[in-house]
Amino acid sequence: MSSQISKLRVADSFSKAANSYDGSAQLQRDVGHQLLDFGLPHAASIMQHENVNMMDLGSGTGYFSQKLTEHYPQANLYCLDIAQGMLEHARALRGSESIKWLCADAEALPLASQSIDFIFSSLAIQWCENLNQLFSEIARALKPGGIALLSTLGPGSLQELRDSWAMVDGKVHVNQFEPLSDIMTRIDPRLSVELCEKKSHKLEYNKLQQLTTDIKNIGAHNMNAGEAKGLTGRVKVKQFKQNYEVYRQENGKLPASYEVYYLCLRKEKEG
Ligand SMILES: C[S@@+](CC[C@H](N)C(=O)[O-])C[C@H]1O[C@@H](n2cnc3c(N)ncnc32)[C@H](O)[C@@H]1O
Repeated sequence: MSSQISKLRVADSFSKAANSYDGSAQLQRDVGHQLLDFGLPHAASIMQHENVNMMDLGSGTGYFSQKLTEHYPQANLYCLDIAQGMLEHARALRGSESIKWLCADAEALPLASQSIDFIFSSLAIQWCENLNQLFSEIARALKPGGIALLSTLGPGSLQELRDSWAMVDGKVHVNQFEPLSDIMTRIDPRLSVELCEKKSHKLEYNKLQQLTTDIKNIGAHNMNAGEAKGLTGRVKVKQFKQNYEVYRQENGKLPASYEVYYLCLRKEKEG
């Protein structure tokens, strides 16, 4: 994701969205469950060990943190998120004595080297500024043989929204996402790729406003520095809505397409 995005804005936006997030997170639910389906077989061998440490990286409201504890009740769980508001919300909803809550940046993990067996991270790393740094931190924090399951968005995501706005004023109204080929070049050499899947997801809406409300409710509205502030006057919004209508399908619904990447990375064993 663009380095113009300020981490403070990301943290602030997600903190403010903590209360509304779960009601608008259909895509995030679908993707997280898919990531568990793809990835848990890869985790099986490590998770049988005693005293396993797992981390939900960019844990949000903790929905998948809870799923992880249901799958692995014996493991120690770290929930890490850059948004304090998300962590507080998750803690109030799902808190248990055994969970360790960390308000921190995924690009600077406050964890000892080689301390984590299993990292799960769904739809969070697209908010990072420096993927090389992120993957380097994942490689540092993982124990040899440990794995990271990651999902993230590709540039085909919200294409209809991006194109409909581009025809209005050519400004940046939608967050930009890196293609898989670029992401792959950023993966730290200590990590090997065990799984790399690309999958399309589509949500359908009766009204465009339901889509824009969902995006706002999860805290993921446009945070690029080049966004068009104050330009979304009534005329432009009307034009934007008209442009989006060309995508209306035979079933009467408006689509919102997402290109999602699923990765399983393993830290190589030493020696
Ligand atoms: C779309 S939500 C996904 C939450 C959760 N994983 C889920 O699937 O519901 C993205 C989360 O990543 C967090 N996040 C964004 N950038 C981050 C960073 N650099 N370090 C840690 N967390 C970050 C946000 O605060 C937010 O809670």
